[in-house]
Amino acid sequence: MEACGALLLARGKPCPNLKEAAENFRSLLDFEEIFGNGNPVELEVGCGNGGFLLTLAARTPEVNYVAAELCSNVILTAMERMRAAGLSNVRFLNIPAEILPCYMPPHSVRRIYLNFSTPLPGSTHERQRLTSSRFLQIYREILTDGGEIVQKTDSLPFFEYSLAQFEKEGFSVHDVTYDLHHSPYAEGNIITEYEANFLKQGLPICRAVARKEGI
Ligand SMILES: C[S@@+](CC[C@H](N)C(=O)[O-])C[C@H]1O[C@@H](n2cnc3c(N)ncnc32)[C@H](O)[C@@H]1O
Repeated sequence: MEACGALLLARGKPCPNLKEAAENFRSLLDFEEIFGNGNPVELEVGCGNGGFLLTLAARTPEVNYVAAELCSNVILTAMERMRAAGLSNVRFLNIPAEILPCYMPPHSVRRIYLNFSTPLPGSTHERQRLTSSRFLQIYREILTDGGEIVQKTDSLPFFEYSLAQFEKEGFSVHDVTYDLHHSPYAEGNIITEYEANFLKQGLPICRAVARKEGI
């Protein structure tokens, strides 16, 4: 973790109570200073081992990327891979997405990627789903006007839940497909680690874009 310290912007929880931290703690990041340029910023929530951003950041060096991930083991792998690839346009937050507003300034992110977020079936875990109302309200706060959430999932119930949530929280929904790899959106698609496994099993992938409309 120390060897990758330069890539890591924050780690852990600023205080034990997540709700209190999300509401009261602020240590907002200055992306121009961090990246040394004013390029647009995009965020992946739940980056896992970082395969998606490894490809995307190399493909688009004119965009800066932040990867948020709860689990220390997988984010370490992602950081090591990014360091080995010599990519200078990616940084990491080893934090739960619940406290993104503690670090990400309002209106600072033009796109959020939710790649194969855990579907968490059953009503008990609804609040933990990364497309539940409380997360969509967080994303709304940090997205620019016109900013987008791009979601991919193999879980049809989770996808349908997410589409309804996007509408409920006032996002407009676009480019919906229930079979990404046999759709026009397949071109340029980057296959994530989880996506590769689902494809091997022959499962169709759902994808949609939810846009925050300007006021
Ligand atoms: C199913 S994996 C998908 C990994 C990767 N995006 C992919 O497509 O291969 C979901 C990831 O989201 C992370 N995650 C789940 N809830 C989170 C939260 N509240 N905040 C940050 N990361 C979270 C998990 O630790 C896990 O690494």
